[in-house]
Amino acid sequence: MSKTGTTSGPRKPLLSLAPMEGLTGHTFRRIHAECFGALDRYYTPFLTPPRVGSSFGKRDCGEVDPANNQGLHVVPQLLTKNADEFVWSSELLAKMGYREVNLNVGCPSGTVVGKGRGAGFLRDLDALDTFLSEVCSRSPLPVSVKTRIGVANDEEYGAILDVYCRHPLAELIVHPRVRKDFYRGKPRWEPYGETLRRAPFPVAYNGDIFTCGDRDALLAAYPETRHVMLGRGLLYNPALARMLNGGPALMLAELKRFHDKLFDAYEAQMGGNAVFRMKEWWSYAQHAFDDPVSVHRAVRKVRTVADYQAAVAKIFG
Ligand SMILES: Cc1cc2nc3c(=O)[nH]c(=O)nc-3n(C[C@H](O)[C@H](O)[C@H](O)COP(=O)(O)O)c2cc1C
Repeated sequence: MSKTGTTSGPRKPLLSLAPMEGLTGHTFRRIHAECFGALDRYYTPFLTPPRVGSSFGKRDCGEVDPANNQGLHVVPQLLTKNADEFVWSSELLAKMGYREVNLNVGCPSGTVVGKGRGAGFLRDLDALDTFLSEVCSRSPLPVSVKTRIGVANDEEYGAILDVYCRHPLAELIVHPRVRKDFYRGKPRWEPYGETLRRAPFPVAYNGDIFTCGDRDALLAAYPETRHVMLGRGLLYNPALARMLNGGPALMLAELKRFHDKLFDAYEAQMGGNAVFRMKEWWSYAQHAFDDPVSVHRAVRKVRTVADYQAAVAKIFG
């Protein structure tokens, strides 16, 4: 297993799990919490708000069903630019017992951005400003935002932050990349620091926290950090949050136990398609091994459950 080191020091910001479509849904959240302990907060992968008067679609219903999220502090995330649908969704979520709703202003996908949603919202700051006025005044739940710092370049962020600072957000989670970066290149910490300095509401950091050292460096640069959101880091190393809280490093046996529970749960839900869901997970979890390339090779071409189980036995063997 690769080693990511331990950490020391008194201050521990709260830790949350990032929304990751296809990866950090309710099944993952529940089983991860069972195996490694619960994080302070979880964000659902983005939900598509239903038309006003309708219910969430089947998949999204499962995602927010309180029965599937018991004992966890979950914040549903919405992807939309339609204020009425956002407010309607917020009403539905409030009735289910949720305490906050999050807006996705970061999704870089071409189809989403093309429709002016996700990171595409950053192309029209007047529309974003109007949207936030509407939803902050009408939503029964406090509204937080997860944002990128621009579409094409970092200089856009000053004006973007001006817009956010005009609204009573519950929190602003900053993923300091621009849309054009997708997930490449290093996140820029300076725009996060600017947000800490200027924002009248709580601020969270997200991006490239893979080890205790990464978190410690962030805290050394910005000691006032109060919330760190973990994404790929926790998929690479499911024990990351525990380690950030001073606990032990990942052990092979617990990774196997986690894997087996995850696969069984996905298989019960989706039959043979669980193999493809798990292959997506392995594209991250392979990094928990000293030789990720051989793990990748073992699962790459697998299509059937029997072949998948043989590949997994080889990996853990
Ligand atoms: C496969 C994948 C799916 C994602 N889905 C979402 C999503 O539904 N909503 C969202 O706000 N961000 C989404 N993200 C972005 C992550 O939440 C996070 O901002 C990004 O991975 C950077 O953080 P990290 O470096 O800790 O992984 C996704 C990222 C990936 C790689």
